[in-house]
Amino acid sequence: MALTGIFLISFLLVHVGLNACIFADLNWLNPADNGEMFNKAAHFMGSTIVTRLLELVLFAGFLLHIIQGYAIEAKNRSRRGQGYKVSMGSRGSTWMSRSMAILGTLIFLYLVMHIAQFWVPSRITKDLQEVTYNGVEMHNLYLRMYEVFQQPVVVLLYLVGVAALAFHLLHGFHSAFRSMGVHNKKYLSLLKGLGYGFTVIVCLLFALMPIAMYLQWVSPNS
Ligand code: HEM
Repeated sequence: MALTGIFLISFLLVHVGLNACIFADLNWLNPADNGEMFNKAAHFMGSTIVTRLLELVLFAGFLLHIIQGYAIEAKNRSRRGQGYKVSMGSRGSTWMSRSMAILGTLIFLYLVMHIAQFWVPSRITKDLQEVTYNGVEMHNLYLRMYEVFQQPVVVLLYLVGVAALAFHLLHGFHSAFRSMGVHNKKYLSLLKGLGYGFTVIVCLLFALMPIAMYLQWVSPNS
């Protein structure tokens, strides 16, 4: 569980970095880019055999992480069913650590919507508008993103999904390293700090993407 978690964390870093290319288009920065930087980066990720294979590994990683998560939750529930002699209430654990399964389920539901909106039209149905840079034709995922984020309900669902991810990571990041055997207090508090920093930066950037497009801070040139 810890290994798949750390693998998914590394995916998030790449994903947020690549998607953050849309901020090159901030209206007061460089609107002339018109999604070129992001489209080229997204095209690269889908155009080599290595990245396509990594995509398969990624889906397998998500699946494994979800199965392991539910298995651990079921085990914990059956243990809790046996009861403690003295009830601990919420002492000894945080709300986040006790809610990892429900947060994971919210992220899973978010992912189903997300994959249907972007990955399926880009990789399966291939029904996105095309754009050409230096003679190379590619999907205009930037335009797709803009269209998706014009719907207030979708923007709201994204923010809920990213909030669930944030709470999941706030506990999951350092917990993964603890499961891998890091028990030293000094290193653990260092990892906690790193985890909080990572979570805030990554989730804030993810949240800003639908917000920036909805509020027209980032928009395609007409
Ligand atoms: C909220 C801001 C986000 C935006 C704007 C965004 C955008 C995108 C786009 C455009 C794609 C399609 C890439 C392609 O087909 O070339 C994609 C794919 C994907 N996204 Fe996101 N994403 C966001 C957040 C997330 C989060 C939080 C997760 C995970 C929890 C995630 C997981 C995935 C996965 C698994 C894929 C399919 C694999 C891939 O194409 O890399 N995304 N995303």
